[in-house]
Amino acid sequence: MKQIETAKFILRNIAKGDEFAIAKNINDKTISRNTATIPYPYKLKDAEDWIKVCLDREKEKDPTELALAVVIDGEVCGAVSLHKIKKNHKAEIGYWLAKKYWGRGIFSEVIKIVTELSFKKFKLRRIYAGVYSFNPASMKVLIKNGYVLEGVLKKDIKKGGRLFDKHIYAKVK
Ligand SMILES: CC(C)(COP(=O)(O)OP(=O)(O)OC[C@H]1O[C@@H](n2cnc3c(N)ncnc32)[C@H](O)[C@@H]1OP(=O)(O)O)[C@@H](O)C(=O)NCCC(=O)NCCS
Repeated sequence: MKQIETAKFILRNIAKGDEFAIAKNINDKTISRNTATIPYPYKLKDAEDWIKVCLDREKEKDPTELALAVVIDGEVCGAVSLHKIKKNHKAEIGYWLAKKYWGRGIFSEVIKIVTELSFKKFKLRRIYAGVYSFNPASMKVLIKNGYVLEGVLKKDIKKGGRLFDKHIYAKVK
């Protein structure tokens, strides 16, 4: 993908050399708690493995996953991914941002750009996200970008031995 630059950040493909910044910025209990597959602690090896998977995927003709780095002040401070991409149909969106940058409107803008780009690039009709009940910031970012709450999966999430609801948000075309 061609790099996209805004006043707040740069969006670009994940690259070799990003592993230290990713491992440092993602290694956060709250990020892990609010996401499905990000472990805590997050080790350098986790970042190396993830980057390898991302780079391998870029070579595929019809990738089912796409990951983009959010670069702030020259460092990868977040990422946004499309999962389970079904060209001409649908994909799931997931994301994280280093805590020190929260609340500055960064992901409101990232989600706007990546949603538009994804609808076009993969000719999608539906992009959806599953947000845990205790994550109002993520819900807000989606709502601000035209995603609509479609339903609540009761007790769908198990975190720290407790059960929580998952809120399904989607934007359709
Ligand atoms: C979700 C996340 C990416 C948001 O990034 P961000 O750049 O801080 O988001 P923004 O600043 O663009 O917007 C956050 C919005 O939520 C609002 N918000 C934050 N905390 C809130 C709370 N406790 N209650 C209600 N609204 C809240 C902010 O006010 C803001 O809305 P506004 O712009 O109308 O004021 C970031 O919090 C994160 O990485 N969280 C951990 C990982 C995660 O949750 N990933 C998504 C999984 S579905």
